[in-house]
Amino acid sequence: MRSTRARRVVVEASASTANLGPGFDVFGLGLEEPRDRVVVEPCDGVEIVSEAEIPKDPRRNCAGLVALKLVEDFGLPGVRIRIEKGVPIGKGMGSSAASAVATVFGIDRLFGLGLGMNELVEYAAKGELASAGVEHFDNVSASAFGGFVLVLPGRPVRILHADPPKGLGVCLAIPELDMGSMKTGKLRKVIPKSVPLEVAVRNLGRASAIVFAMLTGEIGLLKDAVRDEIVEPARARLIPGYEHVKEEGIKEGALAVALSGAGPTMVAFYDKARADGRRIGEGMRRGFMKAGIKSNILITEVGGGVRLLEER
Ligand code: HSE
Repeated sequence: MRSTRARRVVVEASASTANLGPGFDVFGLGLEEPRDRVVVEPCDGVEIVSEAEIPKDPRRNCAGLVALKLVEDFGLPGVRIRIEKGVPIGKGMGSSAASAVATVFGIDRLFGLGLGMNELVEYAAKGELASAGVEHFDNVSASAFGGFVLVLPGRPVRILHADPPKGLGVCLAIPELDMGSMKTGKLRKVIPKSVPLEVAVRNLGRASAIVFAMLTGEIGLLKDAVRDEIVEPARARLIPGYEHVKEEGIKEGALAVALSGAGPTMVAFYDKARADGRRIGEGMRRGFMKAGIKSNILITEVGGGVRLLEER
């Protein structure tokens, strides 16, 4: 059985926003704030400790699932995982991904497993089974690498990442809407199983323009590029105020407003040199209020990623 390299490791991993309109399960952006903090220590078996309202049974918890898999694959004695949630739960900001990424990174350091970043992402994605019912890599990649990420499908999965343009502003409206447990799983069930070729082609064009904008800094392209005709329309019907939030955010200067991941949070993208994030946030808040829904506004930076805080 493998012995520990450290007695205690503390790691932080950031929130993220996935899809960016047409890039379902492919695009993600790491956010500077908020973050989850995870403390891992060796013990017998896998234990989850947290003051947050998350499942404590490791088989039903994203961090627990990835820890169980690592324990099995590497013959580890076990690990106690203390999770301090900073990322709001069930809002479409990669909450489960942040905990899972921090946990894999922490266990890797604790036992000196030598995992590469892509392997880390592969393990962390297993945690999405607990919240979404299927593995997907966009949130975990953004949480791990930070910045703009693109998931190149295949086995092993490959993550391409780049620093997004410095002038790109991100504002999130996080509604007080409880979508229930397994929210992402439910919001994946409403997605159409097939789409006409012309719709797929239009989505592909817009998704490609997002990559172009991220790499060249032509932020203005996001105005036409962040629009999805496949997944988002099906989900939008379940989010009260969706159209109002979009309309008000754009009226106040956003280039585009989209669902953040599966929602219900909505994310606005704007050019920091031309628009004011606070005004956009106020507009989005007004949009949700038109449907009688209160929301919290978060203006943050694109960035984030996983980082080691302490090891001893
Ligand atoms: N790509 C995933 C989805 C992200 O849209 O279901 C979940 O936050």
